[in-house]
Order: sequence, then C-alpha cells, then structure tokens
Amino acid sequence: MYHTMIADLLEHPKVMETRYHIHHAVSKHDHLLRSAYYSYHLAPILGADPHICTRAAILHDLDSRLGTLTTHGAIAAKLAAEIGEPASVCHAIISHMYPFGPAPTTREGWVLVVADKIASLSDLTHFVSGLITGRSLATRRSLVASDPFYAAHKARKKARRATLLRRWQRKVA
Ligand SMILES: [Fe+2]
Ligand SMILES: [Fe+2]
Repeated sequence: MYHTMIADLLEHPKVMETRYHIHHAVSKHDHLLRSAYYSYHLAPILGADPHICTRAAILHDLDSRLGTLTTHGAIAAKLAAEIGEPASVCHAIISHMYPFGPAPTTREGWVLVVADKIASLSDLTHFVSGLITGRSLATRRSLVASDPFYAAHKARKKARRATLLRRWQRKVA
C-alpha cells in the first residue's frame, strides 16, 4: 500500500503544514496524496520504481510558492535532499512540471509528470463536484484563512489600500 512507503514523510512538518495550504482550490496535502496514489499505481505500468515515485510525489510541491511555474520543481527537490531523500527521488521532482521547465530523464520522472497532471485534474473534479453541496467553497474559505501565504497577501493588499487612501485624502484636503 502506498501509505506505508511514505509513512515517515507524512509525519514530516513540511508535509503536515500543507494541510493548511491552498493548491488548485483544494488543500495541498490532498493534491500531494492524490499524486502519491497515482504515482504508486502508474509506476509498474511504466516500468518505474514505485518506492521512488511515491516518495517523490508526496514531496513534489513543497514550498512551491517560493518559485515559479518552471522553477518550483528545483525548489522542492532541494528540500527533499535536505530531508534526506536520495538523488533518484530529487531528480524525479525537478522535472514534474514538464512541459514547463526541464524534461524528465528517468522513468520515475515521467511517472511523476503524468501522476501530477492526473492529480491536478482530480483536484479540479473534486472541487467542482463539491460546489453543489457548498463543501468546496467552505473548504476554500477555511484554507484561505489558514494559509500564511494568503494572510501575507491580504495584509499587503490592505496596506496598499491604506496608502492609496491616505494619498487621495492629502490630495482633496
Ligand atoms: Fe508543481
Ligand atoms: Fe503538483
């Protein structure tokens, strides 16, 4: 079962904090788990190592906000190396955004490219189906409130608005 391959990583603080981060309108933790699930099942089909694929998948988007569409794979790969993952796992993570950014050079890299795309589609399907019950919007609201990136973004917006208001008040005074 894919959970046992990543049991230690699921308890790592960097993975646990993703429960409070928003990603494709769902929690990043959900996206990582879906990616791990699809990687585990795709690996034998593509002749790749399921252990490497599943471990790369659960880490592949950590700290993605620190990079761009094309560079965040390298950021997550560096973090994976710091956590103690071997080069094979880090290598697969770097190229997961292909065709944005570098192309994979290993079977495990290709598995993660495909698994990540399927997981992203599944995130979206999950979000859309939850719109009917209101579950998706409630989750989104709670994630926006708990995500430190959004809190900082909101604070910056508020400060900008206050500055503009002060300028406008000085002009009309
Ligand atoms: Fe990504
Ligand atoms: Fe992803």
